[in-house]
Amino acid sequence: MKNVGFIGWRGMVGSVLMQRMIEERDFDAIRPVFFSTSQTGQAAPSFAGQSGTLQDANDIEALRALDIIITCQGGDYTSEVYPKLRASGWNGYWIDAASTLRMKDDAIIILDPVNHDVIHQGLNQGIKTFVGGNCTVSLMLMSLGGLFANNLIEWASVATYQAASGGGARHMRELLTQMGMLHANVAKELQDPASAILDIERKVTEQMRSGTLPVDNFGVPLAGSLIPWIDKQLENGQSREEWKGQAETNKILNTASPIPVDGLCVRIGALRCHSQAFTLKLKKDIPLADIHSMLAENNEWVKVVPNDREISMRELTPAAVTGTLSTPVGRLRKLNMGPEYLSAFTVGDQLLWGAAEPLRRMLRILLQ
Ligand code: HSE
Repeated sequence: MKNVGFIGWRGMVGSVLMQRMIEERDFDAIRPVFFSTSQTGQAAPSFAGQSGTLQDANDIEALRALDIIITCQGGDYTSEVYPKLRASGWNGYWIDAASTLRMKDDAIIILDPVNHDVIHQGLNQGIKTFVGGNCTVSLMLMSLGGLFANNLIEWASVATYQAASGGGARHMRELLTQMGMLHANVAKELQDPASAILDIERKVTEQMRSGTLPVDNFGVPLAGSLIPWIDKQLENGQSREEWKGQAETNKILNTASPIPVDGLCVRIGALRCHSQAFTLKLKKDIPLADIHSMLAENNEWVKVVPNDREISMRELTPAAVTGTLSTPVGRLRKLNMGPEYLSAFTVGDQLLWGAAEPLRRMLRILLQ
C-alpha cells in the first residue's frame, strides 16, 4: 500500500476532501499519514480506523518518506515546501489544490472526466506534479465538456456569479454576518405589513454604507450587493480570475491553438455554488438537439436542464445544486446574433468539483 501524506486536511477544502474520501472508502486503499503545521505530535484523525500522531508538515525528511502527497494547505505552503522537497531528490507524486504550480510546464491541471487523456499521457512521460484547476474553469468544463470535446467552440464569453466560499471560510462567515445584521436592523418593520418598503430599504442601504458591517475579508459589503472584481488586478484590465479562464482552460485541454475565453467575474451572495452565464460562438450551426446529446453524454455528472422556466428555477440554482456532484447546464438556446451563437447557464459546487473531487480522483488514478 502507498504511503499518502495529507496536509491542510482540516481546512474547508481539506474537510470536503476527507468527507468524500470517507464516502468513497479511499482510505481503505492507502496508508494515510496526517501532517500539521502547528500540532505536531498530537493524535492524528482516524478517518478509516487508523491511529497515529500528526507529523510536522515542514519536516522534509518526514515528507520524503511518502509516495504521494496531497495538500490543501494553500499557496504559501506549496511555495515554501515544494521546491525544498524536490531539491532533496524526492520523486513522489504531489497533488495540490493551490494555484502556485498550476501553470508550470512540468505540472498537469487535473480534471479527469474532461482531460483523462492528458493526465495519462503526462503520467507516461513521467510527470509527478498534479494540480487542481481554478474552480470556475473546472466547473465550466464539467458542464460544457461535450462542446469542447467535439471541438465546437470558437470562443466563449462568460459572466460569473461566484459564491463566497471561493474566498475561503472566513468570507462565508462574513457574508452571513452581514446578512444577519441587515435583517436584524429592519426585523421589526418587516413584521409589520403596514410598514413602507422604501423606508426599510433606506435603512438597509444606510447601514450598508455606514461602515458598521464587517468587511475584513471582502473589503466591502456583499450582502444585498455584489462585487464585480475577484482576485488581483492585472495590467491589461482583467482580474486574475478572468485571466485564468483562458489560460487554464487551454492548459487543461492541451489545445493546439488557444480557444479564447474571457468575460467578467463577479462575487455574489451565494454560499458555495458558482454559476456562470455563457455566450458561446460555435464553429458551425448545429441543431440544439445535437448540442443537448453531446453535453449530456460527456460525463456522468453533467445534466442538461431543459430551457423551461419552472424546471430552470427548480434545478439550475445554487440552492438546488449545493452539496452535490451534479454540474447542470441549462438556458440553452440560439441567440439573436445568429445560429452559431449559443447561450448556456451552468451551476456547480465550488468545493466539490471546483476543488476537492479532482484531487481524490487523481489519487485513485495513481493507485490503479
Ligand atoms: N478563485 C476562486 C474564487 C476560487 O475566488 O471564487 C478558487 O478557485
